[in-house]
Amino acid sequence: MYSKEDIHELMAETKALFKGTEDIEALRKILRFHEYKYYVENDPLISDPEYDSLYKNLEKLEKDHPELITPDSPTQRVGADLNKDFQTVSHLVPMLSLENSYNTRDVLEWNGRLTGIIGRQPVHFSVEPKYDGAGISLIYENNLLVRGATRGDGIEGDDITANLRQIGSIPLSASFSDYGIKKIEIRGECLLNKQNFRLFNESLVQEGIAPLANPRNAAAGSLRMKDPAAVRKRKLEAVLYHVSFIEFEGKTHPEFETQSKTIRALADLGFKTPADTMKVFEKVEDVVQYCNDFESQRDTLPYEIDGLVIKVNEFKYQREAGSTSHHPRWAMAYKFKAREATSKLLNVDFQVGRTGAVTPVAKIEPVHIGGVTVSSVSLFNEGILREKDLRIGDTVIVQRAGDVIPNIVKSLTELRDGSEKEIVFPQNCPVCNHKLVKPDSEVVWRCTNIDCPAQVIERLIHFVSKDAMDIRSLGESNIRKFHDLKLITDIPSIYKMDFGAIGKLEGFGKKSVDNLRTAIEKSKSQPLNRLIFGLGVRYVGEATAKELAKNVNAIYDLTEMNVERLQQMKDIGQKVSETIFEFFHDAHNISLIKALESYGVNIKGIRETAVEGGLSGKTFLFTGTLSSMKRGDAEKLAEDHGGKLLSSVSANLNYLVTGEAAGSKLEKAKKYKSIQIITEEEFLNLIKSNS
Ligand code: IVH
Repeated sequence: MYSKEDIHELMAETKALFKGTEDIEALRKILRFHEYKYYVENDPLISDPEYDSLYKNLEKLEKDHPELITPDSPTQRVGADLNKDFQTVSHLVPMLSLENSYNTRDVLEWNGRLTGIIGRQPVHFSVEPKYDGAGISLIYENNLLVRGATRGDGIEGDDITANLRQIGSIPLSASFSDYGIKKIEIRGECLLNKQNFRLFNESLVQEGIAPLANPRNAAAGSLRMKDPAAVRKRKLEAVLYHVSFIEFEGKTHPEFETQSKTIRALADLGFKTPADTMKVFEKVEDVVQYCNDFESQRDTLPYEIDGLVIKVNEFKYQREAGSTSHHPRWAMAYKFKAREATSKLLNVDFQVGRTGAVTPVAKIEPVHIGGVTVSSVSLFNEGILREKDLRIGDTVIVQRAGDVIPNIVKSLTELRDGSEKEIVFPQNCPVCNHKLVKPDSEVVWRCTNIDCPAQVIERLIHFVSKDAMDIRSLGESNIRKFHDLKLITDIPSIYKMDFGAIGKLEGFGKKSVDNLRTAIEKSKSQPLNRLIFGLGVRYVGEATAKELAKNVNAIYDLTEMNVERLQQMKDIGQKVSETIFEFFHDAHNISLIKALESYGVNIKGIRETAVEGGLSGKTFLFTGTLSSMKRGDAEKLAEDHGGKLLSSVSANLNYLVTGEAAGSKLEKAKKYKSIQIITEEEFLNLIKSNS
């Protein structure tokens, strides 16, 4: 869509616009460019605040000159709430389904039928992912997005234009006229990427709402919300893969004569498409081979896919093949193995977590889903258990989608024979028998006994875990063992462990005791963010812990901050600031921190400006497998010398350090003249020569 030269020019214009401008069209052009980089390519070239300042500038100009507002202005995504139901609209062409195939034979048979109808082997096949989202249709007329609709029953759908305008990767206008196109209907799939889906589900569970079974349900639900601004927050994406209607001003355009060219043209016009994953084949045998091989890559894609779609590439032959009332004869879905299975609900356990939350966990007859055996499935909380109306003995549908946690979709109530038993939620802690409590505003029952052994053990496990203090030799089973033997009783006791007593335990030779001692000793110098994360403050994940650590000289500074001060930090809102405040104003927690300090655990902050070194002012990103050290250690080394880490390739990056098998980051970095691509050795030399 944008060439290297374009990008250079647009970035120069961007910089000029930062200083302020009255040129409304120039601003729109630049904002559209940055929207594209951010939403379509996931590769922003400017920071969010920089984008916001340009956006505000445009907003102001449009406020002063409302007559200059255009329907495709970046400010025109946000619309008014929908106070009535969605309008039903007819699709220009019915939105058909796809025929499914599951194996080589199905595909070869389909090819045989095709050959019969069009009198020859299709000249080419294109193969692209079958996205598991919610089907949408977009109509552009004279370059402008004029309508967006759901699939509905395939003949009629709901007009959801206002909601689709919230999706940053859908252009509000596109230069179809460059191809002589007057009107076009494009089909595609609206979806949530796996990461956003996981975050979305986590937020639902925190609020006590049942998590959604898959990104498709999340996308479909989001598109039907009545508040377009809320739709925006869901971070939906849209991938477009099919042109169902096209009207040219005059002659047809050769770029719109095959599926593969069409996809590329749509990508050039600024749409998110399967262009990067799409493949074209001549022989059906190669198609089959590719489909079989691709299944193993399924989990490496950012989106949930449930198969591949094989299409006759040439539209001419597509037209000859035609459609049934259900599906086109020129396409075939190649479905991957289902990640759903039925099983029996054997029992429900109630597990106590480190914050005292009691989680019901379904024990099911082990089933094989998507390559793993599932025997335990979290039911999250009592509300969800009730909502799903589960009973012991029920036949249940279990789902495990990609890297999504397994989930009970529903019970098959029609299979009940009367022997099923109700699930009784306990009133007392299943571990310490303390009475459980649940404030009205919450959904989770909690054991509030701070000394509840289950909580103590979970807190210890969290404290030593990989992303916290990373005391490897002290895994979960050792923690349980040492806790049972009263060798560790709380977090500080880790640092005054009786190694003599441990050496006498079965299975603990000198070497393992030494390893344990070294690992514990090493953990004392972990950076403060890991300690804060390890303390297990509610709602404080790794990112928040890092933010807190950056804002203090020492951990005690947190005991002096009020909620307002905490809320000035990045991504810390009211709820989180309140729990942080409570935690650091609790006498028990403060004495715990003091005890850790007295054992030599590092409590110093990691203020960003603290480190000045040879790499100050330079940004780094590591990719691939390094040979002399772990990536995390290399990153720490860069930071220790004043360097700053970036999480993706962008124009702000100075050095990309590449190890073995560096992938897409390397490819991307090659496109920037300003990025220096260096080896691990060169990185180490850089530190040496700069210090
Ligand atoms: S082509 C006329 N391509 O799968 C047929 N569909 O199960 C046009 N889908 O209704 C559809 N990825 O919503 C096509 N790459 C892809 C697809 C795809 C997902 C959806 C689509 C369709 C459903 C059938």
